[in-house]
Amino acid sequence: MKAVVLVGGEGTRLRPLTKTTPKPLLPVAGVPLVERQLQWLGAHGVDEVVLAMGYLPDAFVEHFPDDRFQSIHLLYAVESEPLGTAGAIRFAAEHAGFDDRFFVCNGDVLTTLDLSAFVDFHVAHEAAATIHLSRVDDPSALGAVPTYPDGEVEAFVEKPPPGTAPSNWINAGTYLLERSVLEHVPAGRMVAIEHETFPLLLQQRGQVYALETDDYWLDVGTPQTYLRAHADVLEGRLGLPPAPDARESAPGVWVQGDADLASEVEVEAPVLVGVGASVAGGSRIERSSIGAGAEIQAGAVVAGAVVHSGARVCSGAVVRDSILGVGACVESDATVLEQSIVGPGASVPAGSTLAGGRVPVAASSD
Ligand code: GTP
Repeated sequence: MKAVVLVGGEGTRLRPLTKTTPKPLLPVAGVPLVERQLQWLGAHGVDEVVLAMGYLPDAFVEHFPDDRFQSIHLLYAVESEPLGTAGAIRFAAEHAGFDDRFFVCNGDVLTTLDLSAFVDFHVAHEAAATIHLSRVDDPSALGAVPTYPDGEVEAFVEKPPPGTAPSNWINAGTYLLERSVLEHVPAGRMVAIEHETFPLLLQQRGQVYALETDDYWLDVGTPQTYLRAHADVLEGRLGLPPAPDARESAPGVWVQGDADLASEVEVEAPVLVGVGASVAGGSRIERSSIGAGAEIQAGAVVAGAVVHSGARVCSGAVVRDSILGVGACVESDATVLEQSIVGPGASVPAGSTLAGGRVPVAASSD
């Protein structure tokens, strides 16, 4: 089977991390998000994927120099201007010459959806388009997708006021499309599949179906969900080990390669310490992911945090529920908390506090 993976968005909600790295290439517990997706697609027999790109396309080409990921052949479709989700799907599918049904995935989704069951459902209903739905407690900030008893989509209800949603099932960003769907996407302009194409298809009955599942699902779009993605991966919700080369040195304590986790470190699992990272004795690490070559000095506390490769947490500093970009530095006795993001190469001055803030990318990393 073939797939289009949408990776062209700017990922504005995760700036400044996405200033230099597109969101799908950001690591989730040491493995780029798009690799986790390709792994999942490959496990379900997908052998050809077009990356629908727009923002920072060279980063993807450089990341996959052989145009392959494991058994998957990769193709690249670069939009000269953003075409929206449907426009990008049409452009990518035509670029790759897809002539049969294909999967589409938003490039920021982590899920364990069984794609084989998804195909069976689509075929059994003779659908033109099938949408994966996931259940949320409150769809008011998103869009609810009520269905008829046989699974046909009844409507798309955008941002229903709290308490009025006709369904708690939302569009989970994985689709199976017949090629004929592309005929409903006007060429050469922005078209959003969720706002324009699917509602258009609904005008004729029997076209759009949806499969509701309770599989693991997360949209990794915000600092909060990016942090949660790490926690979920480290807890094994997508399978263990969290990264292919990680070994478990104690229950829930994962280390990679020559990572140096001193024996006097206070650890609250789960944690992942990447290749070449050093965590000094007298520091405390709780439920965090420490990237390759990162340094946690004595007396530092890192809790519920994501520390990207080469970042440094100096002595006496505290990083809680926050993200440090590649090569970022939290100087001695500084405090970073409440879903702050310290941009790649940026520093938080000694003794200062950053609460819910963002430090831009350092000029030299720009
Ligand atoms: P935010 O800017 O933080 O909203 O993130 P985003 O840019 O990823 O946007 P959003 O989460 O709404 O996009 C959902 C998916 O569609 C993501 O995987 C995006 O990369 C992708 N996407 C959005 N717009 C385009 C587009 O115009 N072209 C392509 N190729 N992909 C897109």
